[in-house]
Order: sequence, then C-alpha cells, then structure tokens
Amino acid sequence: MSFTINSHKETNRVRVIKIKHEDLDRLVFPFKKHTITSLEYKPFTRFTLAKSLDEVFENKLSKTLIKTLKDRNTGTIIIEPEISNKKFDKEFLIKLSTGFAYLVGNPNFDSMTGKYYARFYVKHQDASDSYLRKAYTNLDLHTDGTYVKEKTDWLIMTKMEEQNVRGGESVILHLDDWEHLDELSKDPVGKENFLWGSPKSKNTEYKVEHPVFKKDKDGKPIISYIDQFPEPKSMKQGLFLQKLSDALEESKKKISFPLPVGSTIFSNNYFWLHGRKAFNEHSGLSRELLRIRGTFFN
Ligand SMILES: [Fe+2]
Repeated sequence: MSFTINSHKETNRVRVIKIKHEDLDRLVFPFKKHTITSLEYKPFTRFTLAKSLDEVFENKLSKTLIKTLKDRNTGTIIIEPEISNKKFDKEFLIKLSTGFAYLVGNPNFDSMTGKYYARFYVKHQDASDSYLRKAYTNLDLHTDGTYVKEKTDWLIMTKMEEQNVRGGESVILHLDDWEHLDELSKDPVGKENFLWGSPKSKNTEYKVEHPVFKKDKDGKPIISYIDQFPEPKSMKQGLFLQKLSDALEESKKKISFPLPVGSTIFSNNYFWLHGRKAFNEHSGLSRELLRIRGTFFN
C-alpha cells in the first residue's frame, strides 16, 4: 500500500520511486472509469483520475512528487512501476502519467499533437525536421518549452515501448553540478534576449524572446536552452551558444542510465537538463515515448 523512495545509485539529487504490482492492480478499476478519449476531451476527468491514483497511496504520492520536484537539491524523480504483467498496457501507462502530471499541476497544450500530451516514436528511418526523432545522433542536453509562450515548470517522459534497442540511454544534468555554471550564467551575453523559433513539426507559428539564464526567487541561476531553436543575431550570441553547447556536452557530471519500459522521468525544467545518447543502428529499431509538460498548481 505504499511506494518506496530511494536515491538513485549515482546521485542523491535523483529520487527513484518504485510502485509495486499490487498497487498498480488497485488502480485498474478506477482507471477503467475513464477512456483515453474522455481524458482527452474532458479535462476534469484527469483530475478525478489523479485523485484515485493519490488515494491508493494515502495521498502521499502528490506530496512527495511536489516536494521533490520543487526542491533545488533534488528536482528529478524516476518512477518505476512493476508492469511485467500484460494488463498494464500502453493505455494504462498514459493514464498513470496523466495521474502523475495532475498531482502536481496543469499540463500545457502540446502543439505538436494538439493534446495535453504527446506520443512519438524514434525509428531506424526518419524524415523529420528536429533532433527529437534522429535515432543515431545524440539528443543534446536541453530544457523543454524554449520556443513557446507558456511557462514550462516540469516535464514527464514515459517510455511506452521499445524494440531492438541498444544505446539510447537517458542523459540528465543538474545545473548546480555543472562545472561551467558560474562562468556561463554570469556572462552578460547569457542574460541578453535571444530569439527562439522552431521547425514546422512543432506547429508553433510565432517566435519568442528570452535569455538563456535567469534567476529564480532565491537568486539561483535557472536555464532555458536547446541547441536547435535559438536564432543568434550577432557574432557574440553565436559564439556564446557554441561555448554553452560545448560546455554542456563535455560535462563529467552528466548522469546516464537506461530507462526501463513503463518508467517515467519527472523533472524540474529550470535546473535539470535532459537528453539522450545515440541508439546503436538496427533496421528494426523502435522506441515510443510519451511526454507531458506543464506548470505547478499555485
Ligand atoms: Fe526535451
């Protein structure tokens, strides 16, 4: 009747929550009440679903998630449900991730899919216009929501399925562990406004302006950055971004790990960066991820 929570084997900053098979079983009935269509069309049903998830854990899951996500010393949770049984299918995983999201806040509308969440594949062949689906290159460290108007306080990434996968490990970095934080967050160019656009597949017509580094309410640096979308307007902006990209990718403080199918990474988007290593080439490679991004309840 309770989840376990422990530190990740590589760092105390990441907490690992394990959910037992018996507890997942207790979610089957309340989850059945909602179809995916009703969750998509009727936002209030997502709150009902999240409440039933919290009740299985005596309302402790919501408190643990919020506290860990907001704490600058932690900020990332990996949730590993014991889903070996076939009844915990993809539909179940969508509902579980929806529950996690609505225990902490409101998801943003995801323009890529026109829903509150997005599901997408990485496969052997790809004709898309962003690094998101390029299997054989690194997806470099970045934060989400750099090119949208909405605030992106947190993000959820759930692995739905994988076939013929080798490589493709998740990579994350806490800003305070990064060797170059002080140097680059104090660089005046990093505090200038940059212009951020996005490729067609993101379905975002407008561009936004914001700096790479800002400060949180306690005066600590926070970051909003991805390599592909800023449009530098001067030599100094271009060179700053190159330096930033190199300094992130060469960091020795990155943590990488294989994410098991069914598991979720739930991260604060202001002081954690995330990315993915390249996959090993395989013609039958297929991996599906679900993502939800949003803001905290007030
Ligand atoms: Fe991302």
